[in-house]
Amino acid sequence: MDENLLIPKVHDIDEEMTEVSLRPKLLKDYIGQTKVKESMKIYIEAAKKRGEALDHVLLYGPPGLGKTTLSNIIANELGSNIKITSGPAIERPGDLAALLTNLQENDVLFIDEIHRMNKSIEEILYPALEDFCLDIIIGKGPTAKSIRLDLPKFTLVGATTRVGSLSTPLRDRFGIVSKLELYSEKDLSTIVERSSMILGIDIDKESALEIAKRSRGTPRIANRLLKRVRDYAAVLGNGELSLEITKMALDRLDIDDLGLDNTDRKILETIIYKYSGKAVGVETLAATINEEVETIEDVYEPYLMQIGFLARTPRGRVVTPSGYEHLGIKYEG
Ligand SMILES: Nc1ncnc2c1ncn2[C@@H]1O[C@H](COP(=O)(O)OP(=O)(O)OP(=O)(O)O)[C@@H](O)[C@H]1O
Ligand SMILES: [Mg+2]
Repeated sequence: MDENLLIPKVHDIDEEMTEVSLRPKLLKDYIGQTKVKESMKIYIEAAKKRGEALDHVLLYGPPGLGKTTLSNIIANELGSNIKITSGPAIERPGDLAALLTNLQENDVLFIDEIHRMNKSIEEILYPALEDFCLDIIIGKGPTAKSIRLDLPKFTLVGATTRVGSLSTPLRDRFGIVSKLELYSEKDLSTIVERSSMILGIDIDKESALEIAKRSRGTPRIANRLLKRVRDYAAVLGNGELSLEITKMALDRLDIDDLGLDNTDRKILETIIYKYSGKAVGVETLAATINEEVETIEDVYEPYLMQIGFLARTPRGRVVTPSGYEHLGIKYEG
């Protein structure tokens, strides 16, 4: 496959545009994630009733599960403005100070990839989160003065794919910590139908379910596959999405019936063949297949573990008997 559907190009304007248009704006349109949605609804209503800012929220989970979407929904439901930034974008203390001092009462500050925030910036954030104030140092050397600025009460929504990389003091400052789970086929199927409607694609239930089954529990992948399948239908058929066209398109994309792509198979086969099925450390695995450790851990492993093909042991990763079976390889455990 010449195009990686799991990790697309860094700045794909077309993709970003559709992503925005497909994002639900309200909690009631946010499909699945029932537990997170229900508790969030209560917290938001309570905050609104008290007329106070919502507690700081940390959202974590694999890429494409709807963290950014949910952050925007939280602001919408609160009736507040949202200011959006990301950990790596805040380079100097002044950047953070500018963001914080421009907030209004009850605003949402969204920091994406918050685990990649600079430690020195993080420390400035602590008093802002806890006491809604900002200590800034003016001048240099012996004449430098520290002044304290009061900030409006705001809500920080942090999103991360790696909650384990967050420092404890930062994590402890979030009153609400929510983990987003991989989606069920049924929920993904509903998402595919909703997206089809918005994009004006005519799709039947079977085809939507087929796409859902191969989307590794991830809405972003479901939406991506839907668009690829639409392209195939336009070229190979009369534009209508039948189950036959859908299956053909997905096969051509090298996405198998469980949603595994070439890299997933490479991961499993590398452990089985190159390391004779013995436990392999993630660093070794990454070096062997020429991928980043982070990509394996964040993008590939969650789904391979969820469907029970890969297991983590103290000595490294192993392929389970059902993983062997899926690849048609005899298990000699
Ligand atoms: N619960 C949902 N219901 C409907 N669509 C959803 C839902 N969650 C996500 N999506 C769709 O999936 C796409 C990706 O979601 P989003 O950008 O919020 O993921 P993310 O978790 O922020 O990913 P990343 O970690 O890469 O930033 C969105 O365009 C949105 O349309
Ligand atoms: Mg995001």
